Amino acid sequence: MGKPRVFVSRIIPDEGLALIREACEAEVWPDELPPSRAELLARSGDCDGLVSLLTDRIDGEFLDACPYVRVVSNYAVGFDNIDVPAATARGVLVGNTPGVLTETTADAAFALLMAAARRLPEGVDYVRAGKWRTWGPMLLMGQDVHHATLGLVGLGRIGAEMAKRAHGFDMRVIYTDVVRNEELEARLGVEYLPFADVLAQSDFISVHTPLTPETRGLIGRDALHRMKPGAIVINTARGPIIDTPALVEALEAGTIAGAALDVTDPEPLPADHPLVTMANCIVVPHIASASRVTRGKMAAIAARNLLAGLAGDPLPTGLNNDAVGTGRQTTPRRFSP
Ligand code: DGY
Repeated sequence: MGKPRVFVSRIIPDEGLALIREACEAEVWPDELPPSRAELLARSGDCDGLVSLLTDRIDGEFLDACPYVRVVSNYAVGFDNIDVPAATARGVLVGNTPGVLTETTADAAFALLMAAARRLPEGVDYVRAGKWRTWGPMLLMGQDVHHATLGLVGLGRIGAEMAKRAHGFDMRVIYTDVVRNEELEARLGVEYLPFADVLAQSDFISVHTPLTPETRGLIGRDALHRMKPGAIVINTARGPIIDTPALVEALEAGTIAGAALDVTDPEPLPADHPLVTMANCIVVPHIASASRVTRGKMAAIAARNLLAGLAGDPLPTGLNNDAVGTGRQTTPRRFSP
C-alpha cells in the first residue's frame, strides 16, 4: 500500500501544494483553464481525494464516477459548486476555506465601492487615452463615500468586515439577512432593515450572501427598481445573485448609477459584454481573495482538509463532519494511513 492518490484541479500556492505532494501521489492539473468535465472525471476516477475549485461541479454523478474519493477539499469559501448532501449520503467528506479570506475579500469589496463611487477606472482610461489636458472643474465628478449609507445584503463574516471598513468613512450601515443578529448589530453599530428598505435607503449596496436557490436572482428587476437612482451595487459574492440582463437594463436606463463586480453570471464575461463595455460598470476577474498571503492560507487549509479527510478524521473546516465514519469512510483504505 502506497500513498493516497489525489487530483488537484489547478496549481495552487505551495503553502498547500507542498504538503499535498509530500503526503500523496498527486496529479496537478497544469493549465490556466479548468479541466473539462470529462477530464475531471477521468483524472479523479482512480483517486482517493480531490482538491476542487469553484469551477468544478461536484455532484452525485461525479461522486458515483469516482468511487474511491473519500474527501473533496474545495479551495474556496463558497461551495455552491458542490452538492454537499450528495457527498454526505455517500460518506464523502467536504471542506472549504472559511475565515482566512474574510478581510482580504472585504478590502476588495470596499476598493470596488470606492473605485465606482469616484470613477477611478474612467479616470485611468482618460489619462491613458491622452485626454488629460487641464484641471477640469466638471471632470469625472462622482459620489461621496463618506457619510453615505451602505446597505449590506448578508451580514456574515465578510459583510461584518465591510461594516467595519465603512465606519472608518463615517457611513451609516444598514443590513438585511435571513437571520437577524442583534448581538452583532450592537457590536458593529449596524441597523437591521427588511430587504426592501435596505434597497430603498442605500447609496451603496454590497452583496455578501452565499449562492443558494433562495438568493439566485435576488437582485433582479424588482430589486433594482427599488434602489435609489444614484445607487451603486457591489458584488463580491457569487455572480448569479444578480440577474445579469436586469442589471444591464438598469445601468443602461439609469435606474441605478453603477455597479462594481468581482463576480458575474456567466463567468467569465466576454470582453464585448455590455457590463464590461459600459462606463458605469466595473468588472474585475473574481480576484477579491487574491492577495498572496490569503491565497497561501487558503491552500494550506485546503491541504489540511484533504489530509484529514484521507485519514478519516473530521476536517478542520469541514462542511459535513457528521459523515465521518459513514459510507465510504467505512471501506478499507487503498493506501497507508
Ligand atoms: C471563494 O473563496 O468562494 C471566493 O469566491 C474565491 O476565493
